[in-house]
Amino acid sequence: MTPVERPSSEGISRRNFYVGAVYGMWAAISAALGIPALIYLFFPPKARKAEEWVEIGDVSKLAPDSPVEMVFRRNRVDGWKVISEKGTAWVVKQADRSIVAFGPQCTHLGCAYHWDEGKNDFLCPCHSSVFSVDGRVVSGPAPRPLDRFDVQVKGSKLLLGRLRQRREQNG
Ligand code: FES
Repeated sequence: MTPVERPSSEGISRRNFYVGAVYGMWAAISAALGIPALIYLFFPPKARKAEEWVEIGDVSKLAPDSPVEMVFRRNRVDGWKVISEKGTAWVVKQADRSIVAFGPQCTHLGCAYHWDEGKNDFLCPCHSSVFSVDGRVVSGPAPRPLDRFDVQVKGSKLLLGRLRQRREQNG
């Protein structure tokens, strides 16, 4: 019978060191790959993005109570995708020189309305809703005034924020 050879204590500690080093490297590689993946999954761009204002044009030359349709592009975040969209707003310089920007859709069923120079009103061709220059419902089935964008005027530039619904005829 041959005696069983036992590894020396030096051999055991060297093996333990290599096993520990392999596990350590494996943990470091897992963390390097896993942490960015978790951030990507649990914090989509929408959650990190602040509300955006978009510059849409010069308002210094607008005549009072003469609406102008302005076209702009704005980025919309949909999950992880950023989509560039074309938008429009009807912009009015009011008699007191304040600026109002109306959303482009009729508040009845969402058709595009237009400004009628002759009648001095906004007209919707779909079901004949009529809105005054300050967005109030004059006639037709529209249930509420025109929606308004939040606006900021910086120098002569107009910036648009969120589109908001108005429930009341006044204000
Ligand atoms: S969608 Fe404008 S009146 Fe119906």
